[in-house]
Amino acid sequence: MKIPSVKGTRDFYPDVMSVRNFIIDGWKGASVRSNFVEYDGPIFEYLTMYQQKSGDEIASQLFAFTDRGGRDLAIRPEITPTLARMVNQRINALPKPIKWFSVPRLCRAERPQKGRLREFFQWNVDIIGVDDVLADAETIFCAVDYLRQVGLTSSDVAVRISSRKMLAVMLKTLGIADEQLNAVYAVLDKRSKIPAEAFEKILAEAIADEVVRSKVAELMAVESVEQLDLFAAGNQKCIDALDELKQLFSCLESMGIADYCKFDIGIVRGLAYYTGVVFEIYDTSSSLRAICGGGRYDNLLADFGGPKISATGFGMGDCVLAILLEEKGLLPKASGLGTVDCYVACLDEELRQKSVKIAAKLRASGICAEFSYKSGNLGKQLKQASALNAKSCIILGQEFKQDGKVVLKDMAEGSQQIIAIEELFKQMQS
Ligand code: HAM
Repeated sequence: MKIPSVKGTRDFYPDVMSVRNFIIDGWKGASVRSNFVEYDGPIFEYLTMYQQKSGDEIASQLFAFTDRGGRDLAIRPEITPTLARMVNQRINALPKPIKWFSVPRLCRAERPQKGRLREFFQWNVDIIGVDDVLADAETIFCAVDYLRQVGLTSSDVAVRISSRKMLAVMLKTLGIADEQLNAVYAVLDKRSKIPAEAFEKILAEAIADEVVRSKVAELMAVESVEQLDLFAAGNQKCIDALDELKQLFSCLESMGIADYCKFDIGIVRGLAYYTGVVFEIYDTSSSLRAICGGGRYDNLLADFGGPKISATGFGMGDCVLAILLEEKGLLPKASGLGTVDCYVACLDEELRQKSVKIAAKLRASGICAEFSYKSGNLGKQLKQASALNAKSCIILGQEFKQDGKVVLKDMAEGSQQIIAIEELFKQMQS
C-alpha cells in the first residue's frame, strides 16, 4: 500500500533541503549581526496556551490532541506564547534586555495555498524589557537587514507599519467601545485579504451603528501619519500615539532602512496580543501573502502570570520568502549534492582497502572525501567523481603499489601530478 505525504506538508529532498538551509543560515546570520541569541522550546504545549492568547484565527487552526495522561495539548502554531512562558519562568535571572531569536518548525491547520502550508519554519526575533520604539525599530531593522543581505531591494519588498495603540485611541474617539476593540481589529485585519463585499458584511456585523462605521471607513482610508494629525484634533492620547509612530519612522531613517518602510493604516495583525507598533512585510507587487508579521505585545507576559514587561518582535515564514527569492533569481543553484573536496579512486581490488583508509584519514583531518564502492574501471570512478563535482581526485594505481605514490588530479583544470601520499596529506592539511 502506497502512503502519500500529508496535505500541506513538504518532503525536503536534498535539493530542497539546501534551499531551506540557505534561508535559515541567512536568518541566523542576521540575528547574530544584531546580537540576538538563540533559544528554542518544545514542539507542543498545553492547548489552553494558544486558546487564551493567540486569537480565534490561530485557535481554529490548531493541531490539538489529548495525550495518554489525559492532558489537552497542541502542536505549536507560533512560538511567542512559549517565549513568554519561558521568560516568565526565569524573569529575575535573565539579564535585560532579552534579545532572543529562534527558528521553530510550526504547524497550523490552514487551507494549503501558495505560500501557506500546514507545516513551516518561522524566524522569530524578539526583544523583551525595552519600553521604547527603538526596540520596535531594531526588530524591523533585523528583518530588513536579512532581506537586503539576501538581495531583495526596496523595490521588491516593503515593510508596512501601523500602531494598534494609535488605532485603539482613534477607534475609541470614533465611538468604538473598549470591549469591541478586539473584534473590530480582527475584522479590519481582513480588509485587504478578502473581497470588498465580504469585508463590508463582516464590518457591519462588528459595528452595527452606520455612522460609526462610515467614520471608521474614513479613518481606514488615511494614507499618511500626517493626515492622521487631523483625526487627532487636540486629543492628547491620539497625539501621543502618533508621536510614537513618528519617532519610529525617525529611528528607521537613522538605521538607513526608511526606503523599505511605509505607513499603512490597514496593518492591524490577526493575532490578539498586539498592543502597539504593528507591521507586516509584503512583496511590492502584493501578489503573495505576508512574508513577515510582528509588533509590540506589552501585556502577554503579564497575561501568562508574569510581570508587566514590554515585548516586541516578529515572525518571518520560509514559504512566501522561498517563492519570492525563486521569482527574483536569488536562490543559489541547488544540486542536491555534497561538496566533495577529494575523491579517492583505485585501480583494482587489491588497492580498495587502501583507498578507503586514505579517504578515512582525509575525513579525520576535516576534508570531505569520497571513495568508490567498486574497484577497477578507473574511467567509471572518474566519471562518478565529476558527477559529484569533486574538486580533486586521488588515484591509487601502479605507482602506489611500487613506491607509495598517488596521482593527484585537479578536476577543474584537468592537470595532474604524481606525489607521495605522506606529502599529499601534508599539502591537504595546509
Ligand atoms: P503571524 O503573522 O501569524 O505572526 O506569522 C508570521 C509569518 O509566519 C507570516 O507572515 C508568514 O510568513 C508565516 N506564516 C504564518 N502562517 C503560515 C503558514 N500556514 N504557512 C507558511 N507560513 C506561515 C506570528 O506567528 C507571531 N507569533 C509573530 C511574532 C513574534 N510576533 C511577535 N513576535
